[in-house]
Amino acid sequence: MKITKICCIGAGYVGGPTMAVIAQKCPEIQVTVVDLNEDRIAAWNDENIDNIPIYEPGLDKVVAEARGRNLFFSTDVEKAIDEAQVIFISVNTPTKTYGKGKGMAADLKYIELCARQIARVAKDNKIVVEKSTLPVRTAEAIKSILDNTGNGVQFQILSNPEFLAEGTAVEDLLNPDRILIGGDSTPEGQNAIQALVAVYSNWVSADRILTTNVWSSELSKLTANAFLAQRISSINAMSELCEKTGADVNEVAKAIGMDSRIGSKFLKASVGFGGSCFQKDILNLVYIAKSYGLNEVANYWEQVIIMNDHQKRRFSNNIVQTLYNTVADKKITFFGWAFKKDTNDTRESAAIYVADDLINENAKIAVYDPKVSKEKVLADLDYLETRAASINATNVLSFDNPYDACANSHAIALLTEWDEFVQYDWQKIYDSMQKPAFVFDGRNILNGPALEAIGFIYQGIGS
Ligand code: UDX
Ligand code: ADP
Repeated sequence: MKITKICCIGAGYVGGPTMAVIAQKCPEIQVTVVDLNEDRIAAWNDENIDNIPIYEPGLDKVVAEARGRNLFFSTDVEKAIDEAQVIFISVNTPTKTYGKGKGMAADLKYIELCARQIARVAKDNKIVVEKSTLPVRTAEAIKSILDNTGNGVQFQILSNPEFLAEGTAVEDLLNPDRILIGGDSTPEGQNAIQALVAVYSNWVSADRILTTNVWSSELSKLTANAFLAQRISSINAMSELCEKTGADVNEVAKAIGMDSRIGSKFLKASVGFGGSCFQKDILNLVYIAKSYGLNEVANYWEQVIIMNDHQKRRFSNNIVQTLYNTVADKKITFFGWAFKKDTNDTRESAAIYVADDLINENAKIAVYDPKVSKEKVLADLDYLETRAASINATNVLSFDNPYDACANSHAIALLTEWDEFVQYDWQKIYDSMQKPAFVFDGRNILNGPALEAIGFIYQGIGS
């Protein structure tokens, strides 16, 4: 089966960039990305390429090349499903906020709605691809809905998890470590796998395309994220010990990273990991393990989250303590709000939780992030429902310029590792601040001795 028409449901951080790259690399395939969110689709279609809704280095060029040629963004979900041979499901699967599994399990209501819509609309055989990260055995649920509510057409369900990291999405999609495709062992299942393999083969070499059964593929995605997050919590745990013992966590990370069995990546101590995946996927893993009665497995992985929460809280507590045990009415400048550099995504960003703690202490927060709007900052805080939105709005101001954000400030907390923060005129910043002027570097990217030479009191993580 040769694929000529693909539909992707969900035009978010996963669906948008992934489909843009497929369209760029496979000009003979028509790729339509659909979403219920009209504003999001309008932004993807905006003539001014700077207005596409997701900021990712290089994404604008990829979209500009393929859009209108073989890449389309639309709100007509049914038409796109009807026409496509392959349907990717890339809708969001947040942690449940209600009922059984609240705060732990992934909420599959959006996935189920997609499955029901596909079943209703499809008039010919389709390959349905799970792209969103899903609990193990979700494919079974999707298949059951499709087979029992469909119009008698045949569906093949594949799991094809996305491993891209935000901020490097385009590079990760163009040069993936591996493409993972899970499917049934039946001849029809194997044919579906091969059809998708053929799509990726347009730019990914065969030795990097791995095919497995569906369950292995689903579990591999959760496992990869759990291992990555575990490395960060491990180095963050050591950062606290370093602070007590006089060791330097950067030196420790370098020393252990040179062991080829450990490797040097993902060993940066920080204020804590954020993003839409790590916490959600681990909570989901914990929930699945518990549901099988595997309490030791569940408790083991839950520690990764507990450590991460501790690291965020430790950072805000340290600010309060260092500022003479009170931040009431003090201005604290936040450099960065996104969960990492080179993205405008703020989901689960450590900045949100640190700000929340400091607002509880009556601090005034001044935020500067190169890509995050002031509306987003307030929406993130309001979502926590810690206090009235009006209080967040009076305590948190956003600035378009880092120097304005620092004027009269008591302390700077660096929450995101944006490159530009290193380049600033720190003498100018120092001169405009209250004294003593503090810098809390939650990413260890600034030159501590140089800042101390200016007069700052500098504190990094883990030294
Ligand atoms: C992650 C996985 O990397 C990716 O494979 C998966 O598809 C989705 O989840 P993402 O969340 O986009 O990607 O970014 P990632 O680079 O993994 O960073 C996650 C968080 O960990 C960020 O807050 C980042 O700042 C933090 N981090 C990362 C550290 O604190 N230290 C590190 O050494 C690396
Ligand atoms: P991710 O990071 O997984 O891509 P996002 O929240 O950025 O998550 O994107 C998911 C997108 O899926 C959202 O734009 C949302 O509007 C869309 N979506 C959710 N459910 C449906 C649905 N049933 N049909 C179409 N789009 C949907």
